[in-house]
Amino acid sequence: MKINILAIESSCDETSAAVISDGKILNNIIATQSVHENYGGVVPELASRAHQQHLIPVVHEAIATSGITKEELSAVAFTKGPGLMGSLLVGVSFAKSFAYALDVPLIDVNHMQAHILAHFIDDPKPTFPFICLTVSGGHTQLVLVKDHLDMEVIGETLDDAVGEAFDKTAKLLGLPYPGGPLMDKYAKLGNPNAFQFPISDMPGLSYSFSGIKTAVLYFLRDQLKSNPNFIDENLHDLCSSVQYTLIKMLVQKLKKAVSLHKIRQVAIAGGVSANSGLRAELEQLSKKHGWKVFIPKFEYCTDNAAMIAMAAHYKYLKGEFCDLDVVPEARMKI
Ligand code: KG4
Ligand code: ZN
Repeated sequence: MKINILAIESSCDETSAAVISDGKILNNIIATQSVHENYGGVVPELASRAHQQHLIPVVHEAIATSGITKEELSAVAFTKGPGLMGSLLVGVSFAKSFAYALDVPLIDVNHMQAHILAHFIDDPKPTFPFICLTVSGGHTQLVLVKDHLDMEVIGETLDDAVGEAFDKTAKLLGLPYPGGPLMDKYAKLGNPNAFQFPISDMPGLSYSFSGIKTAVLYFLRDQLKSNPNFIDENLHDLCSSVQYTLIKMLVQKLKKAVSLHKIRQVAIAGGVSANSGLRAELEQLSKKHGWKVFIPKFEYCTDNAAMIAMAAHYKYLKGEFCDLDVVPEARMKI
């Protein structure tokens, strides 16, 4: 009998379902919520409603295109946290009802672990131990990955996540939400050294990203006084300079983690790992320092159910199931 698992992801603003069979991802269906674009950020209430609307069609498509029938599913998996409580509740409620109806085990997955386990979907896969820089809209963590389900956070942000810093500075530049991908696009056309922003240096392996938002805010305020078109005229250079600063901060601590732990296998994960500047920087570091670097495919960087399915597969192999009275954990830790 093959191990067939249906996985659901609904932690933020993507509704996603995937089917995995014996560790092989068969599909990864994602419905993106465009409703938030007008608000400059994810509106939790609207996200929950959109999940309600999208979930069944997304699950239906995942099952229909997998070649596996509902009756052949061995388990149902879902994101337990971290994430928005209302969004998580939609996924958890559906997953437990579906598992109950099919009389199969239920598997709860930690979203941040799953971002890291996305590296086990395709070859080449990292070997243990490795260091993963996990960078998303809600988190910035350096994680020591000892095994599929054995991970330790060795450093993290003390305030904003780096994805948040991308999105908030992009907003100051007048870019629509989420600004990260647009910042990346315009950064390629600009000069990273055009403007200097402060690099925070927190103790140990801690990060801080709240300062750059304020620095950019004051810088723009001063420039706009003498030139109201300052942003339009310098958009590419501004994006490039901000992105350069954020990447520099990320890499500074990553290098420190590598030397402290004497581990030269390095991975990146999470939404911001889609950033082309960060990806290029990692390739450079790999060449310069002989690091073995793992960069996920674009489709597995931002939120998706394939990564939840991969994590669920390893939990299934260990018999780690949860009870049907499980509840989501908005602030779940690794
Ligand atoms: O992992 P993710 O999809 O959702 C969370 O769990 O937060 O990450 C979303 C974050 C957003 O802040 C978004 O702007 C950022 O990832 N992001 C990027 C890029 N693509 C997504 N940031 C910079 N460059 C990108 N290419
Ligand atoms: Zn995520």
